Formats: sequence, C-alpha cells, structure tokens
Amino acid sequence: MVSLSTKIGSLELKNPVMTASGTFGYGTEYSDFMDISRLGAIIVKGTTLNPRQGNPYPRMVETPSGMLNAVGLQNKGVDHFVDHIYPEVRKIRTSIIVNVSGSCIDDYVQTASIINTLDDIPAIELNISCPNVKQGGMAFGVNPDSAAQVVGAVRKVYDKTLIVKLSPNVTDITEIARAVEGAGADSISLINTLLGMAIDAGKRKPILSTITGGLSGPAVKPIALRMVWQTAKAVKIPVIGLGGICSATDAIEFLLAGASAVQIGTANFIDPSISGKVIDGIGEYLACHGFSSVRDIIGILDTD
Ligand SMILES: Cc1cc2nc3c(=O)[nH]c(=O)nc-3n(C[C@H](O)[C@H](O)[C@H](O)COP(=O)(O)O)c2cc1C
Repeated sequence: MVSLSTKIGSLELKNPVMTASGTFGYGTEYSDFMDISRLGAIIVKGTTLNPRQGNPYPRMVETPSGMLNAVGLQNKGVDHFVDHIYPEVRKIRTSIIVNVSGSCIDDYVQTASIINTLDDIPAIELNISCPNVKQGGMAFGVNPDSAAQVVGAVRKVYDKTLIVKLSPNVTDITEIARAVEGAGADSISLINTLLGMAIDAGKRKPILSTITGGLSGPAVKPIALRMVWQTAKAVKIPVIGLGGICSATDAIEFLLAGASAVQIGTANFIDPSISGKVIDGIGEYLACHGFSSVRDIIGILDTD
C-alpha cells in the first residue's frame, strides 16, 4: 500500500490530483463519468463579486496540441454561489476550493470574505492571472507589487488556506512567487494560460472575438514544468503544478519538479474521467519504484 496524501498549507488532501478551475464546472457535471469524491480536490469555476456574462462568441478554438479560450470568467457571482451552488457541492466528499477573481482589490477582498464564512470550503485559489478580462485579472499577476497588494489585502480577511494562481506571462516567475509568499500566500499554483492568438487566413480575421486568448493543453507543458521547477526552488510554501497534464506520467513529472500537488485542466475536455486514471497511475508508479508515499517524490528531480 502506498500513501497518496499530500498537504497544501493546513489543508490535507487524500491525493495530489485536483481539477483546474474553469475546466470541471462545479464538479457535479462530471459525476456520470467518474466518482468525483476520489479527487484530491475540485477547484470550481472562477467566481466574482458580481455576475459576469463572459466574452462574446467565438471564445474557444482548438490549436496544435492545445486550445485557446477567452471565456472571460462567466459566472453568476458569489451570492449565487453561496445560495445555489454551495449547498450542493458541500455534499461532495472531497475538498472544494473556490477560484476567486476580481476587477479591483476590493472585489477580491469582498468575495474572499464572503467565502470565508462557508464552513465546508477549506481554501480559495486567488486568480491574479486571467488573460481574458479587460480589467484586473492578469494585470495583478504580472507585477510583484500589485500581486503582493492584492494578496496582502485578501490575507487580512481570509483565514483559511490561501492559494495564489500565477500567470506565466512574465519574464521572471520567481520574482512574483516571492512577492506573493511575502504577502501571506499559503501556496502557489501555476500556470494559468499563456496569451496567444489564432487567425482565420481565409477571412483575414482573428478567430476569437477578443482577438487574443489563453493557450492551454499539452502545448504549454514544457513551459509550465520549467516555471514550477523554478518556483519550487524559490519559495518555501507548497507549489501546485498544472499546464498540459494529460497522464499520470505528466503529473509525476510535475511532482518530481517540486509540485506538492497537480491540477488537470484541458485534458478533462478530451477524457472526462482522466483524473481518476491519473490518481491510479501515480499509485502504480510509486509502488513500481519502491516509494511508500507520494511525498517521497516531491522535488527529487536529479539535476546533477
Ligand atoms: C475553458 C477554460 C476556462 C478557464 N477558466 C479559468 C478560471 O475561471 N479561473 C482560472 O484561474 N483559470 C481558468 N482556466 C485556466 C486553467 O485552470 C489552467 O490554469 C490552464 O488551462 C492550464 O492548464 P491545462 O493546460 O491543464 O488546461 C481556464 C482554462 C480553460 C481552458
């Protein structure tokens, strides 16, 4: 028997596999495909203070080994979450983490303090990295001072596990990671999507209504792995790795690079039961290589 449990701040997860925000709805939509209570955690859709319509269509396009999206944080707002979604998701027997976004610091603070009152939500993931909104979003995550400001303000009102999700659209990821660690983050997740673009040559027009969008899927994995490895060496808080994970082997690569847990995003659209297969595959890898716990492989990449 191997142990798959891992820790993110004070949050103990039964295994290191979570689903990434925006790619797994509120979890319940996937219950026909797999036993969602097997997941280490479910990170629900981006939630904002007020309802958001999202961007006009088209807002998704397939690209080589990946996809571009410009959904733009469509959701019904935090009050709707509290009244209608929370009563359902709190019944799922795994950790439910809310991904929080905002247009200004006060939006983040108000949303986080409302979620703080929900007993069965043990953590939030602060999205300071969304490339698909006009105001806020990625703007906070590409500058160390503004990243620290928003994290510091949320830390004052949020007393459970605070995960901060970083943008890969920066020159030095370690500078941002250290800034959010210094401002009180309990954990860092990375990466969000990379800013990209697709063109319809026949129409001589961009494909997405927003012109640019966020690239995800296997195409981004080498960049995500590099950033997770750099970040894990730069901070003391646990790092959660994501970006292009499609198999147990992909997930194990992130753990070896220093991630304490992983998230699965775009791969859910290809195989809605992929997360269960990744959990099983990590267990098999540990048993096969003689490790008794997943914690034994975190950051053991041999670079000599
Ligand atoms: C359709 C779609 C919607 C997304 N919505 C959110 C969101 O609301 N909040 C967030 O932090 N990230 C969001 N993301 C980013 C993913 O959570 C993840 O960081 C990114 O896709 C990289 O992982 P992947 O390559 O495994 O998909 C979204 C991604 C996609 C494809």
